[in-house]
Amino acid sequence: MSAPERLELRRPDDWHAHLRDGPMLAAVAPHHAGFGRVLAMPNLVPPVTTAAEARGYRERIRAAGATFVPQLVCYLTDRTDPDDVAAGYADGTWVAAKWYPAKATTNSEHGVTSVEAIRPVLERMAEIGMPLCVHGEVTDPTVDVFDRERVFLDRVLAPLLHRVPLRCVVEHATTREAVGFVRAHERTAATITPHHLWWNRNALFDGGLRPHAYCLPVAKREEDRLALRAAATSGDPRFFAGTDSAPHRVHDKEKDCGCAGVFNAPTAIAAYAQVFEDEGALDRLEGFLSVHGARFYGQAPSEERVALVRQDWTPSATVPVGDAAVRVFLGGERLRWNLSPAGA
Ligand code: NCD
Ligand code: ZN
Ligand code: ZN
Repeated sequence: MSAPERLELRRPDDWHAHLRDGPMLAAVAPHHAGFGRVLAMPNLVPPVTTAAEARGYRERIRAAGATFVPQLVCYLTDRTDPDDVAAGYADGTWVAAKWYPAKATTNSEHGVTSVEAIRPVLERMAEIGMPLCVHGEVTDPTVDVFDRERVFLDRVLAPLLHRVPLRCVVEHATTREAVGFVRAHERTAATITPHHLWWNRNALFDGGLRPHAYCLPVAKREEDRLALRAAATSGDPRFFAGTDSAPHRVHDKEKDCGCAGVFNAPTAIAAYAQVFEDEGALDRLEGFLSVHGARFYGQAPSEERVALVRQDWTPSATVPVGDAAVRVFLGGERLRWNLSPAGA
């Protein structure tokens, strides 16, 4: 059978992205244009912790010329009021709340110090069916950095879900165990990023130290990457696209203590398509990109159709932000698939 040259699908959604704010938001917003909906992560400085802040952020995203529909998320802290979270969900301000364990990742300083601190919020969320997005890593310095996700799922999330029937997304899943966890727990799902489908942890040390391959959770072993590829391409509706596009200026990545995050908005759809083609699963790409996530969030999949065309292209290596630049995932490399311009 010859390889298809063109693939039509419903417009994809991105269920995990960092759009940032200010000049960075203005610079990156146009690069998310392939997506119909983008779940905008709330780890701004300061974080989006109230409904009023979320509405203000949504306006700034729109003002930045976003062609996608931004969906907002509440950043949980030890002081979050369950009534505020529920009210913001009921009136459509936000579609989920995000649990950042304090100090686990970028801008998580105001995050949650222990599950006990947010138990009343989580119980309320379970009652009203509001999804919880989780950055699932422990911060215990005695736990190896490559084990932090596994340990979180095992010691923190599993016992919690046993008692509180939350709808829960394991964000940016990176391990075989995370895939197994989702399969074993009702009401759970996982987002999977393009870079965790592409790289194993060798990418961090490929001929030298590679700060642009550094993100959190850090990439894991080859067996983990293969398990993620199998899950993403399986057709299982509990796995869907969340790019975790996380722009940082080049000079903030290439320094003594470089920031965690991979900016993939311009190349994510192409990278996902290439992975699905390599796995012989192009027929399942639409589910992963455009259907499963919407269903999890109780929304209708997009009625808009887009076309992917099989045509080599080379994305630019960087995107400018004022006088600085952000490095693009797979920028400068040859990719096989691209979104065709409207109507083509
Ligand atoms: C994200 C960021 O830069 O905001 N970084 C990352 O490495 N993934 C934060 C996050 O998603 O944990
Ligand atoms: Zn995270
Ligand atoms: Zn993220």
